[in-house]
Amino acid sequence: MGTTIQSSSLRQASGNLCELLAALGRAEIRPRIVAEAIELSNCCNSLSTATIALWSSRAHNQAMPTEHDARNARKWDARAETFDQKRFDYFRWMQRKALAYLDIKAGIHFLDLGCGTGQAVRHVAERARGDGVFCGIDISPRMIDIARETKGLPNVQFEVASAEELPFEDGSFGAALCTNSFHHYLLPMRALEEIHRVLRPGGRLCILDITSDSLLGRWLDARLRRKEREHVKFYSTSDYAKMFCAAGLKVVVSKTIWPPLKAHIAEKE
Ligand SMILES: C[S@@+](CC[C@H](N)C(=O)[O-])C[C@H]1O[C@@H](n2cnc3c(N)ncnc32)[C@H](O)[C@@H]1O
Repeated sequence: MGTTIQSSSLRQASGNLCELLAALGRAEIRPRIVAEAIELSNCCNSLSTATIALWSSRAHNQAMPTEHDARNARKWDARAETFDQKRFDYFRWMQRKALAYLDIKAGIHFLDLGCGTGQAVRHVAERARGDGVFCGIDISPRMIDIARETKGLPNVQFEVASAEELPFEDGSFGAALCTNSFHHYLLPMRALEEIHRVLRPGGRLCILDITSDSLLGRWLDARLRRKEREHVKFYSTSDYAKMFCAAGLKVVVSKTIWPPLKAHIAEKE
C-alpha cells in the first residue's frame, strides 16, 4: 500500500515538474534542472509528452557536456580490447537481427550509432560489396581505434563522436542503426533529432535495445540504474513512439527480438 502511494505521488510530481519546466520556455532551461527532471521521470514507467517536450527543448540549448559522456567513454575504452572475444557473441547476434529491418543493398549510405568496434559497419559494407558509404560513430576513442584497424574495405569511415552531436551533413544517410547503445544517451531526444537531421527523406532508423514494457525490462532498468552510472534508461515501446514522433520520425513498427529486447523502427518522411 505504502509503495503504491509513494510511486503514484512520484509519478504525479514528475509530471507536474516536467510540465512546469516545459512551460518555462526553451532558453531558460538549465542543465541541472533538466537532469533532475530526467531523474524524476525515471520513477515513472512511461514518459509524459511534457517530459519529451522538455528533452526536445533541452536539445536545442547548447553543446553537451559532459561528465556522463566521459564516463561512458572510459567504461567502453576499458572494454574495447576484449569486446570481440566472446564465444557466443550476443551483440553480433542482435546486430544481425536489427539489420533485417533495414534495406541493405548496393549504394546504401549507412550509419551505425554507438558502433563499438565497427562489426555492423563492416558487415553492411561487405553485403553491399563496398558500393555505398558506411559510417560508424562511437563516444569511445578506443572502440574507434579498433574499428579503424580493419583495413581493405572501401568507403568505410569511423569517427569518435556522440550520437547527440553527429559530425555529418543533413540528409547524408538512407539507413541508421543503433544497437544496445541508446539507453546510455543522456539526451535521447537530442540524439533522435540528430538522426532525423542526417537521414534522407525515406531513410530508416532501427534502434534495438532492452525495452521496459515487461516486468523483466523494468527490473533490469532499475537494477542497471543502481549499478551503472553510464546507464540512463530503458524505454517502453510507447516511449519510443512518442519520442520518434516528437523528433519528426514516423513510427514503422516495434518488434520483439527476444523479450525484453525489441527493435524499434522509424522512418523520415
Ligand atoms: C554495449 S556497446 C554496443 C556496441 C555495438 N552497438 C554493438 O551492438 O555491438 C554500447 C556502445 O555505445 C557507445 N556509446 C555510449 N554512449 C554513447 C554516445 N552518447 N554516443 C555514441 N556512442 C555511445 C559506447 O561507447 C559503446 O561502444
